[in-house]
Amino acid sequence: MVNLGVLVSGSGSNLQAIIDNIEAGRLDAQIKIVISNVPGVYALERARTHAIPSMVISHKEYKKREDFDQKLLEVLKTHEVELVILAGFMRIVTPVLLRAFPMRVMNIHPALLPSFPGTHVWQTEVDYGVKFAGCTVHFVDEGPDTGPIIIQAVVPVYDDDTADTLNARILKQEHKIFSQAIQLYAEGRLKVQGRRVLAEGIPQAPDSFMINPPVTIFER
Ligand code: GAR
Repeated sequence: MVNLGVLVSGSGSNLQAIIDNIEAGRLDAQIKIVISNVPGVYALERARTHAIPSMVISHKEYKKREDFDQKLLEVLKTHEVELVILAGFMRIVTPVLLRAFPMRVMNIHPALLPSFPGTHVWQTEVDYGVKFAGCTVHFVDEGPDTGPIIIQAVVPVYDDDTADTLNARILKQEHKIFSQAIQLYAEGRLKVQGRRVLAEGIPQAPDSFMINPPVTIFER
């Protein structure tokens, strides 16, 4: 059982997936505290509905990022958090938090890192014309979206995709892989070796592939 602190800034659909998996007994974790840096977001409502402690710590009340992170750190420690989950948390975290939780801060990013770091990536992906997109759960290090990758999921990009349709397709996979990454952590299976994260005791993905657009005439 791992104690989670979940940081959010918005709708909290990833938070909801984690809550649902915990309640269904699929995820060996408990959420000790949900913290939003933005007041009034729906993620806070989700926490309340499930009787999970939650609070707002507005970054606007702190002059420096480090001071904001110091406050986050105090609250996370008070709630005996072991693993910090950035579930749509739209702030860069500083070494103040990262040094207190080394390789214990996980982020979900809606792209196949190291491609398309940053925010609101879906339109950029559609405009770029990539044929595949996806999502990544990674440990957070001191760079922007650069930390060691734990798990990724791939989805096709279709010709008529918009940012919204692509976002929806990716989000479905986010909801699976975030809980999977947390469960691997809870089971003590994640071993960080430099940039590589190994999931010990987990079978390798099958030797398969996807081609988009699909190959037809050359198939044999
Ligand atoms: C998710 O798509 C997540 O990958 C993204 O914000 C969304 C939050 O949705 N995170 C980032 O872009 C982090 N840089 P949610 O509030 O419904 O979970």
